[in-house]
Amino acid sequence: MKDSPMVTMKAARAVQENPSVKTLYFDYGLGARPGQFVMLWLPGVGERPMSISYCTRERFGVSVADVGGFSSAVMKVKEGDAVGFRGPFGTSFKLGKEKAIALVSGGCGCAPLAFLADEALAKGKKAFYLQGARSKGMLFFTERMRKAGAEVLVSTDDGSAGKKGFVTELLREVLQKNKVDKICTCGPEIMMKKVVDISNEFKLPCDISMERYMKCGIGICGQCCVDPLGIRMCTEGPVIKKETAKKITEFGKYRRDASGRRVPI
Ligand code: FES
Repeated sequence: MKDSPMVTMKAARAVQENPSVKTLYFDYGLGARPGQFVMLWLPGVGERPMSISYCTRERFGVSVADVGGFSSAVMKVKEGDAVGFRGPFGTSFKLGKEKAIALVSGGCGCAPLAFLADEALAKGKKAFYLQGARSKGMLFFTERMRKAGAEVLVSTDDGSAGKKGFVTELLREVLQKNKVDKICTCGPEIMMKKVVDISNEFKLPCDISMERYMKCGIGICGQCCVDPLGIRMCTEGPVIKKETAKKITEFGKYRRDASGRRVPI
């Protein structure tokens, strides 16, 4: 386990991406890898793990979905407000010799995958950026990804943008028409389970980002251990290979809340 000192600084930018997602940017060289997270701290509110959605030498961003409690407090943060963070923590998506990768997200899962797409494109790889959302108004980062040079495909539940239906159907279409070397996914576990099934069908490697309730974020408290392996998703995760996910019996079935009780997914 490796902790990192808390840094407190003013948010350089606060962008409302859609009605329930906000991105906070900090002018700080975090040196993070795609898929890692920071522990974000709001004075008087508390601390929670948040996905890094953007990272350059000088600036990084975290994107936060409003699911109540701490995240609702983040929605009120404005440019210039003081915020603390520790990190980066956790495992990251790995890129090797792949020429083309497919990034498949649902909901706020697009946050780490946008960061990964930036890195893949900078390395000259082709990136298919597939994003599923409830409706057009919930999509974000798609314009950023188009401008960066990714091939962007979207699906919505109501058909208000892109293909009506599941993002996994888009993945199947992309794989049927293109040579893709690796899949990376982040989002609801039911979706990621389907992505893993499709990756098996097409015999492709697949990395997933598996989120669990965290307290310490650095491997001490045991809150984020998963059944039956007992690995900690804050240190041995959140990014794991599909072969590891296959051994985690709770993947796609249940998670644990703050008190350790099982909650069906
Ligand atoms: S959050 Fe404490 S061990 Fe992972």
